[in-house]
Amino acid sequence: MGAGVLGSAVGMDKDAMKRLLRDAGIPIAKFITVRDVEASRLDFKKVVREIGLPLFIKPANLGSSVGIHKVKRAKEFLPAVRDAFRYDRKILMEECVTGRELECSVLGNDNPVASVPGEVIPKHEFYSYEAKYLDPEGARLEMPARLPPRVAKKIRELAVRTFRTLYLEGMARVDFFLRKNGDVLVNEVNTIPGFTNISMYPKMWEASGVSQAKLVDKLIALALERFKKERRLKTSFG
Ligand SMILES: Nc1ncnc2c1ncn2[C@@H]1O[C@H](COP(=O)(O)OP(=O)(O)O)[C@@H](O)[C@H]1O
Ligand SMILES: [Mg+2]
Repeated sequence: MGAGVLGSAVGMDKDAMKRLLRDAGIPIAKFITVRDVEASRLDFKKVVREIGLPLFIKPANLGSSVGIHKVKRAKEFLPAVRDAFRYDRKILMEECVTGRELECSVLGNDNPVASVPGEVIPKHEFYSYEAKYLDPEGARLEMPARLPPRVAKKIRELAVRTFRTLYLEGMARVDFFLRKNGDVLVNEVNTIPGFTNISMYPKMWEASGVSQAKLVDKLIALALERFKKERRLKTSFG
C-alpha cells in the first residue's frame, strides 16, 4: 500500500534520502555522513567548522528519535557518536536548525497531492523519544498549522516534489523545518507514518476534508491502480 522496495529503503536511510533531495535542489540542512570505519578519524573541530554548533547526531537508519543527540559542547560529542553507532554502522551529523517543525501528508501514485500542513510543538529541547512517546504532554499539535498562505503553499509544493524525488508511492508524511527568515527545509520522510486516530498523517487529511474512512478507501484504490499497471509488465523474456 505504501512505497515499493526502493522508496522504502530510501525513506529509511537518511543519508541516501538527503543525497537524492540535494540532487533535486530541495533545501535540506547541511550534513556529514560517517561510517563506522571512519569513526576513529573524526575531528570535532573540523565538523564544527563545517556544520556549526550545536549539531545533531543520528543513526542513518532508525526513527522515533532513538539514538539522536543534540550536541552543544565538545565533551558531548564522542559519547553521542558512540551512542548513535550502537544502532547503525552509518551516522549523520547535521547542522542544528532553529525554527518550527511542520509536517505534510502526501497521497497518490503518479499524481500525488499534499494535505494542509500541521505543526508539532515539542515541549522538550527537541522532538525526542521522550517527547514523542513517554511524556503525554511532550508535544502540542496544531492542525492546520498557523502559517501565512504563501509558506503553506511552499510546504505543500516541496512535499510533493520530495515524494516524487524519493520514488514514493501511496502515502508518506514529509517533515519540515521552518526558519524564522521564512526558509523551509525538508527534514525527513516517513513512508509508514503513524496511522492511529491521533496521528498526524490522518489528522492532516481530516483537516484537509478527507475523513479517515475515505483515506483508507483512497489508499486501497491507489494500491489496486498500481497493481494493475505492474501486472501488465512482462516478467519473462523470450
Ligand atoms: N538538524 C536538526 N536541527 C534541529 N532539530 C533536529 C535536527 N534533526 C533532528 N532534530 C530534532 O530531532 C527530532 C527527530 O529527528 P529526525 O531526523 O526526525 O529522526 P526520526 O526519524 O527519529 O524522527 C526532530 O523531530 C527534531 O525535533
Ligand atoms: Mg522525525
